[in-house]
Amino acid sequence: MNPYERVARAAVDEAAVLLREAWLEAKNVRYKGDVDLVTETDHRVEALIVDRLRAAFPDHTVIAEEAQGDGPIDQESWGEDDFVWYLDPLDGTTNFAHGYPQFAVSLALARGRELQFALVHDPIRDERFVAHRGAGATLNGQPIGVSNVSALAHGLIATGFPYDRRQHADYYLGFFGEFVRTAQGVRRNGSAALDLCYVACGRLDGFWEWKLRPWDVAAGVLLVREAGGRVSDFRDTPFDLHGDQTLASNGRLHSDMAALLTARLETVSAEAAS
Ligand code: IPD
Ligand code: CA
Ligand code: CA
Repeated sequence: MNPYERVARAAVDEAAVLLREAWLEAKNVRYKGDVDLVTETDHRVEALIVDRLRAAFPDHTVIAEEAQGDGPIDQESWGEDDFVWYLDPLDGTTNFAHGYPQFAVSLALARGRELQFALVHDPIRDERFVAHRGAGATLNGQPIGVSNVSALAHGLIATGFPYDRRQHADYYLGFFGEFVRTAQGVRRNGSAALDLCYVACGRLDGFWEWKLRPWDVAAGVLLVREAGGRVSDFRDTPFDLHGDQTLASNGRLHSDMAALLTARLETVSAEAAS
């Protein structure tokens, strides 16, 4: 096991103990926005993992959701040999706060702009998804791969809604409606990191979501790719970790999902112009 994986796994295993102890307890919840909440556990897990990473890799940058890591990366001076960790200490905070068992720790390492290593751990099911660039993806040590579903009508697709959903509900529901009409089923599970892992291991066939942040998706994107799937933006142009659109699939459904999303984007822009 390489030192990145060893340190990451040890830190995430410690975090899993905290998460399992806290998930059914009363929560100390604070609102960051009208629907965006954070618990004391998000902060405790983040502090723990950032501390372990800094102790082991003092030269690395850590970008973490609750801002206990380093500040945003200066894109201009970001070198090919710079290591950056992306940490979401608790992806699925709303689920966690309600005692709904669908949340995870999501951790990825990039060198330069290239994702190298991913670890997503669901502490309730004790499922550990790991990927190494060029070496495939595993679930609890067993190799995983994307599904074989090749028709959107037979596909189980997941999504989520961003934190400005109250202000733009109809806009996001327009995209949701297209998939409800076309796919076999649509799920909204509340953890984008796990949604991507589920695409990687074939439990889901595709996933799309607006406005995810690098710490939500960095690990899941590498997992999907290493499991044989594809990730892009909605128009099937290259995925940008700092962009607004995430489309992931088993590869076979990718062009149909992108066509549906593109058509919807064009409908809304034509409506806005008229
Ligand atoms: C959220 C989850 C959710 C997604 C939201 C994310 P958080 O992350 O991934 O599934 O729909 O857009 O922000 O806030 O629980 O870490
Ligand atoms: Ca998240
Ligand atoms: Ca989070």
